[in-house]
Amino acid sequence: MPRWGQRRARTALIALVCLAAATAVRAGTDAVEAGNAAADPAIVSAWRTLRAADCARCHGKDYEGLAAPSIVGFARSQSREMFVTAILDGNPPRGMPAYRDNPHVADRIDDIYRYFAGRANGSIPDGPPSRGK
Ligand code: HEC
Repeated sequence: MPRWGQRRARTALIALVCLAAATAVRAGTDAVEAGNAAADPAIVSAWRTLRAADCARCHGKDYEGLAAPSIVGFARSQSREMFVTAILDGNPPRGMPAYRDNPHVADRIDDIYRYFAGRANGSIPDGPPSRGK
């Protein structure tokens, strides 16, 4: 191969490496944004549902306990099934209403669990979720 062709090949290779690096950086940023569960519209909707149902009245402003125990702590220590049952069936004699007949809560129970699981593992901060940044 003549020298000129080699240099062109090397230039092309360098350009390719730079392009790959730039793509990797961009993919990394996307992954971080995808991991930002707090910006997930379903999580935002679950958070609004919790506000509307006023779980905070008994469980505290950030759901970390007040007159009633911490929902974040419960999500950290219990299975998903236990969590869903605790909310849908409640425990009326002990002051926890059943939400099975509340479609706002019942229809979003998976996202409500994802919200508290995220709070429990630290991937979702307390306070209002960011709106799609
Ligand atoms: C009227 C007060 C009140 C409201 C409103 C309320 N809770 Fe509760 N909740 C309680 C009490 C009291 C308990 C503890 C029951 C027990 O001792 O078994 C409880 C227990 C729970 C538990 C199980 C925690 C544990 O440690 O046993 C979860 C999960 C939970 N509530 C979620 C919610 C969610 C989500 C909402 C809103 C949709 C909500 N609660 C609204 C009073 C309330």
